[in-house]
Amino acid sequence: MSKFIVVEGLDGTGKTTQIRILADHIRSKGMQAEITAEPTSYPTGKLIRRILSGEVSSDPWSLAALFLSDRIMHNVAPEDGIEKMLSDGKTVISDRYYYSTFAYQGHETDLDWTVNMHFGCPAVRRPDLVLFLTMSPEKCIERIRANRPDEAIEIYENTESLTRISRQFDAVFEMLTDRENVVYIDADGTVEEVSERLIAAYESCCGE
Ligand code: TYD
Repeated sequence: MSKFIVVEGLDGTGKTTQIRILADHIRSKGMQAEITAEPTSYPTGKLIRRILSGEVSSDPWSLAALFLSDRIMHNVAPEDGIEKMLSDGKTVISDRYYYSTFAYQGHETDLDWTVNMHFGCPAVRRPDLVLFLTMSPEKCIERIRANRPDEAIEIYENTESLTRISRQFDAVFEMLTDRENVVYIDADGTVEEVSERLIAAYESCCGE
């Protein structure tokens, strides 16, 4: 049966690589898997990227609301939204979801407000499984710089911000422990080691 899976974690934890491996694992079992990400490539997501790069100025409240708007679009887009893909029988893996808004914007605005506006919105689906990749902020920054030395660094990509966001992620998942199906994955290891952990978590939740 199709499942909605979210992979969360700080910038630099290797989400993109791990999601690709997990999707290949699901496909190797004869099932369909689609990878998707937030911010999306819809107009809302494009505006968010311009804000994150510092090209367009904004404020944390507007940014949090924009992320909600982008997430609604991500769910309901008629051609390739999450709901459409699930109804086509595909397993959907999203690189980030509302937990990122709670962790990144929740701290700068009001956590309850960010949570309530998401949980109060029927168009925002709750995932079947959340894989939370954990790693120290120092190691994340090291990886970000090693992977793209020439590219622009986004507004949150410094040790101070990531340390704050890391604490907020921990607090958020602790708060949601009874409501959401979250598995913590130690992301400090080789690609193979970490992917084995993700696949084991997937199999115990969703394997058939
Ligand atoms: P991206 O370049 O896709 O980073 P990554 O590959 O690490 O996911 O940029 C996403 C950035 O957007 C990242 O710094 C986290 C931030 N973000 C938020 O602040 N709130 C959100 O709700 C989401 C989905 C992302």
